[in-house]
Amino acid sequence: MYGFEISKIIAAIILTIVIVLSINKLADVVFNIDAREDVTYKVTKVTETKEISKDDNKANSGNDIKVFMDLGSIDHGKTVAKKCIGCHSVSKGGGNKIGPALWGVIGRKVGSVTEYKYSKAMGGFGKNWNFEAMNNFLIKPKDYVKGNKMAFAGISKEKDRASLILYLNEQSDSPLPLP
Ligand code: HEC
Repeated sequence: MYGFEISKIIAAIILTIVIVLSINKLADVVFNIDAREDVTYKVTKVTETKEISKDDNKANSGNDIKVFMDLGSIDHGKTVAKKCIGCHSVSKGGGNKIGPALWGVIGRKVGSVTEYKYSKAMGGFGKNWNFEAMNNFLIKPKDYVKGNKMAFAGISKEKDRASLILYLNEQSDSPLPLP
């Protein structure tokens, strides 16, 4: 009589354990799937970022610079430009300060403000300030124009550089068409 009751209780306990274990197992599987999705997502993001920064290191055209420029906003660029205005004027009619006036700089020849005395490196650089060149310069000014005298370390954030370049492009009588 009692024996029958006890085996019912034991059966109930075993059943409970089995149910708890299977719920755990199920939770594990679901959680693992989530975790895997997370990892995949992160890997994709890293690849994207890497591609953009790789492109920053060489002048190039077409899609990549468009992807890069799309990161920026003119409004934010105006804020970033505060890093520059100690040494540069950016508005129309602004004169040279420690550095040359930057009104209309995007699109003009490097080192071409006639009343400004550039270093040999900047004066003889020869290229034009297009979006790619300005981006490469702003990553690390010392490396892009070797021997120039601009005492500024550079801007590491892509969004900051893209925004600043958009803003500088607007500070001009003839902004370049965006890529
Ligand atoms: C500490 C002062 C200083 C700061 C800050 C500074 N610059 Fe300069 N910049 C200079 C000087 C000096 C030169 C001239 C370099 C040469 O002749 O070698 C220059 C040159 C340049 C040129 C070349 C212009 C031309 O006519 O070819 C650009 C573009 C430029 N700076 C952009 C910037 C931007 C954008 C910022 C802000 C992120 C900035 N600079 C911050 C001092 C500065």
